[in-house]
Amino acid sequence: MPNPPPPRPSLVVAAAVVALLLAATLCHGGKTSLFVRKVEKTIDMPLDADVFAVPPGYNAPQQVHITQGDLLGEALIVSWVTVDEPGSSKVIYWKENSSQKKTAQGKASTYSYFNYTSGHIHHTTIRNLEHGTKYYYEVGIGHTVRQFWFVAPPEVGPDVPYTFGLIGDLGQSYDSNRTLAHYEMNPQKGQTVLFVGDLSYADNYPNHDNNRWDTWGRFVERSTAYQPWIWTAGNHELDFDPEIGETKPFKPFTHRYRTPFKASNSTAPLWYSIKRGPAHIIVLSSYSAYGKYTPQYKWLEAEFPKVNRAETPWLIVMMHSPWYNSYNYHYMEGESMRVMYETWFVQNKVDVVFAGHVHAYERSERVSNIAYNVVNGMCTPEIDQSAPVYITIGDGGNLEGLATNMTKPQPKYSAYREASFGHAIFDIKNRTHAYYSWHRNQDGYAVEADRHWFYNRYYNAAEEPSIV
Ligand SMILES: *[C@@H]1O[C@H](CO)[C@@H](O)[C@H](O)[C@H]1NC(C)=O
Ligand SMILES: *[C@@H]1O[C@H](CO)[C@@H](O)[C@H](O)[C@H]1NC(C)=O
Ligand SMILES: *[C@@H]1O[C@H](CO)[C@@H](O)[C@H](O)[C@H]1NC(C)=O
Ligand SMILES: *[C@@H]1O[C@H](CO)[C@@H](O)[C@H](O)[C@H]1NC(C)=O
Ligand SMILES: *[C@@H]1O[C@H](CO)[C@@H](O)[C@H](O)[C@H]1NC(C)=O
Ligand SMILES: *[C@@H]1O[C@H](CO)[C@@H](O)[C@H](O)[C@H]1NC(C)=O
Ligand SMILES: [Fe+2]
Repeated sequence: MPNPPPPRPSLVVAAAVVALLLAATLCHGGKTSLFVRKVEKTIDMPLDADVFAVPPGYNAPQQVHITQGDLLGEALIVSWVTVDEPGSSKVIYWKENSSQKKTAQGKASTYSYFNYTSGHIHHTTIRNLEHGTKYYYEVGIGHTVRQFWFVAPPEVGPDVPYTFGLIGDLGQSYDSNRTLAHYEMNPQKGQTVLFVGDLSYADNYPNHDNNRWDTWGRFVERSTAYQPWIWTAGNHELDFDPEIGETKPFKPFTHRYRTPFKASNSTAPLWYSIKRGPAHIIVLSSYSAYGKYTPQYKWLEAEFPKVNRAETPWLIVMMHSPWYNSYNYHYMEGESMRVMYETWFVQNKVDVVFAGHVHAYERSERVSNIAYNVVNGMCTPEIDQSAPVYITIGDGGNLEGLATNMTKPQPKYSAYREASFGHAIFDIKNRTHAYYSWHRNQDGYAVEADRHWFYNRYYNAAEEPSIV
């Protein structure tokens, strides 16, 4: 065999350049998308926009929305607002093709905020739903009746497929409307929305003009009346403004949006859990006390041992403020909660954490930063197959605009990041596999701008392949 010729100098240089590039890629983490979007100001839709139209008729119900009403998805909370008079809080509902109508009774109340007084906000829980069954329901009984429908979830169990939509920081701009339309038109039909906080952005208006809570409720009704949205509270739900005498945090949000917190033995509506199909979903509050001994801490400590992966293989956590975020916006705001809870997330093999707050998109590698103990210097997040994937989906399109300024270089924990508006789909196939995709508003409805096969951390702990 002839000896190979000595390498030519130009080849050596080329190889060195390739090696350098490779090294650069390795230590600089994942992909920063170079997608070029149309840059224009994000503005709220005007009060006379079509999506804010008040439904016609005397005392017609408006802002209709539904959410899960118990631990297992056999109950549903139906909420709506009437403005002329309280009217009835009754819901009439029936199974598709059944003539047997049932009724449920609820309650209505109002609240005041500065010089605003709300309409009559109704909340009525309907129970004993049959799994996987389509129901019709009517509200506005006695005056203008409006009819909607929903499909009850399958029985909680490890191998029922279920598809969640993911939306965050939505607001009520023209871009918000595009995000909602893209979610509705996505051929992978979401069955329930996991909403990661920041709903109306009414607090960006003078005196937190709560009329913008009403317009938001009317805007999203085309989705929220037909499928449950699972609510997380964000900073824009605080509405804390002592200068105008409003000192009760979360007042408009908690009056308008109910959660089934008592069913998971939570003591406050801002943190709770539900089971839905194959998923156990834990909702946390970034803006409530979470330090040691606080109610939220005690609740979460007791909650993890209740998770039964044989029943619900998928363990999902929602919160508003992300723990892993490589944008120069809200950088490290989630850090104190991460320090408190991250060890539990890793020990309990949480599959995925969804957050918002940063108005952009980011998906992390499976990383943890739990080795650090202040003195050992091990302060860099490391790849950890027991750790969740962290997804920031705060790109709903609100009036504050996009977060475009990213930390450079891209940290190792960041797998993909892009400053575009959009939504995502988490499509659970069975106990081992879930398909995740992110959809930007500039693309056609079926286009996947980012995607990832999730392997369940309990049943399929192997490293997931990256799809490029
Ligand atoms: C919002 O989106 C819907 C669905 O695409 C459309 O019918 C409506 O005209 C839009 N409204 C505004 C104000 O953009
Ligand atoms: C109800 O009736 C429609 C058509 O009349 C049919 O397509 C549908 O399958 C029926 N649903 C059930 C649950 O029987
Ligand atoms: C509330 O106060 C603002 C600012 O003073 C004013 O513009 C608005 O008309 C008032 N609204 C009501 C309902 O009184
Ligand atoms: C809530 O607490 C009650 C009383 O201790 C207990 O029976 C029930 O199982 C608990 N439920 C959950 C979901 O933890
Ligand atoms: C991006 O953020 C960094 C850190 O806050 C800041 O120093 C820099 O000026 C920002 N760049 C732009 C273009 O705003
Ligand atoms: C689970 O779903 C994945 C992806 O669709 C599929 O490849 C796998 O065969 C499924 N597993 C079982 C046990 O059906
Ligand atoms: Fe936020």
